[in-house]
Amino acid sequence: MRIAIFDSGVGGITVLREVLALIPGNDYIYYADTRNVPYGIKPKNEVKQYILDAVEFLSGRNIQAMVVACNTATSVAIDELRKRFDFPILGMEPAIKPAILNNTGKKILVLATSLTLCESKLGALIRMLDKNQKVEKLEMNKLVEYAEIFDFSSDEVKLYLKEKLLRLPIEEYETIVLGCTHFIYYKRLIEEIVGKGIAVIDGNEGTVRNLVNMIQKNYSVDSKKETTITFYSSGIE
Ligand code: DGL
Repeated sequence: MRIAIFDSGVGGITVLREVLALIPGNDYIYYADTRNVPYGIKPKNEVKQYILDAVEFLSGRNIQAMVVACNTATSVAIDELRKRFDFPILGMEPAIKPAILNNTGKKILVLATSLTLCESKLGALIRMLDKNQKVEKLEMNKLVEYAEIFDFSSDEVKLYLKEKLLRLPIEEYETIVLGCTHFIYYKRLIEEIVGKGIAVIDGNEGTVRNLVNMIQKNYSVDSKKETTITFYSSGIE
């Protein structure tokens, strides 16, 4: 099978890594919209157009399925993408559901880009699930920029994380949801900063599980086939 994985930049590689571990033996195309990253601080319509252009490019590459490995792109464009393209398209959303299902009474903090946080998709999810009003939101846009320059652990990054997280009464939270695939690179640092009592979770596993189910339902996969990965980027202008 030929499956595309799409993100604004390097965040979706965290999804690709889990996909490869679970379902090797396919032809993967990874597309990073490096010309237009970051998405999360730009106007919705501009970002939507970037995504449509990228998926138009991918649709000409004979793909049979696509994963939008980006919470921001999912929130602004998934409905439009499913209308325009006829291959199955899986999206991502912040893992609020498991956080609420396992909630024991303290608060839940969702970290995501500004665009994800203000979109109606997340608002609707919170309204539907968060009956006890435990969910709070915090933008961490700068982590996208740090990840794009492969800065995963500098003093500047650590200071940024500490300033953002320790400004909150962090002992009041029990779960932090990483609602952006770029943030997953900082999971360990975040765990170190907030301490052991707070679970740091992400939505990658759920997305990959959906992909596995979708593939098993619709295709017969040859597990002996070798895996190929082709990388595309829209380039830097
Ligand atoms: N990786 C994207 C996400 O999951 C966002 C990065 C960006 O702002 O471009 O939300």
